[in-house]
Amino acid sequence: MRKIVIAGNWKMYKTQAESQEFLQGFLPSLEQTPQDRDVILCVPFTDLNVVSKNLHGSRVHLGAQNVHWEEFGAYTGEISGPMLTEVGVRYVIVGHSERRQYFGETDETVNLRIKAAQRYELIPILCVGETKQQRDAGETERLIINQLEKALVDVDQNKLVIAYEPIWAIGTGDTCEAKEANRVIGLIRSQLSNPNVPIQYGGSVKPNNIDEIMAQPEIDGALVGGASLEPESFSRIVNYKVLSPENTLKS
Ligand code: 13P
Repeated sequence: MRKIVIAGNWKMYKTQAESQEFLQGFLPSLEQTPQDRDVILCVPFTDLNVVSKNLHGSRVHLGAQNVHWEEFGAYTGEISGPMLTEVGVRYVIVGHSERRQYFGETDETVNLRIKAAQRYELIPILCVGETKQQRDAGETERLIINQLEKALVDVDQNKLVIAYEPIWAIGTGDTCEAKEANRVIGLIRSQLSNPNVPIQYGGSVKPNNIDEIMAQPEIDGALVGGASLEPESFSRIVNYKVLSPENTLKS
């Protein structure tokens, strides 16, 4: 049985005060959430400590948005595994397209960060996905297989989450069709040595499309940006409804 993993990626949003306000609204809604769903919040570094304290005793896991491959050193602006685990971080996003696009992240540095995360008992959430141009040129499959091949060298697939995030669907409201996301995620799974790695879909996941996304057989969860910033919308997402097979067939 594969795990269901729903993660919020707050990106560069929320001060400490705002993060506390969010939790006050969000945590009570988890009382109805089925136990088989892992819920994660990947928050900015400055929020980690306060969110960690506020999550204590709750079922929400704490996540960060990056990790360096060294334990310490002269790497201005970076953060290490031990610094994250010390404040209770369990998961870390690695290779998000925004890091690849704006901050020069490569498949090689992604691989180094994933291995470092695992070395320090953090579970990496590896992001892969194509641009619109690559999709239109019919390069999606080749690109994703290549990203996976390079990112997963010497990586333990028992301690890993993967997120398929088509770049053209991020922050655009232009969600990838659930069936198409399911197809690409099936392709990702076919490349893995461990078929039980949870694979999420990310890209304009909203309260109004989460049920259909989660009804897809290959999709094990969601990596949610904008809709994870408001307690109401993220609550609806973690409390997604399991569609009956009849509804799933129609979608
Ligand atoms: P949106 O949900 O805002 O499209 O962002 C997706 C994302 O990048 C999550 O990592």
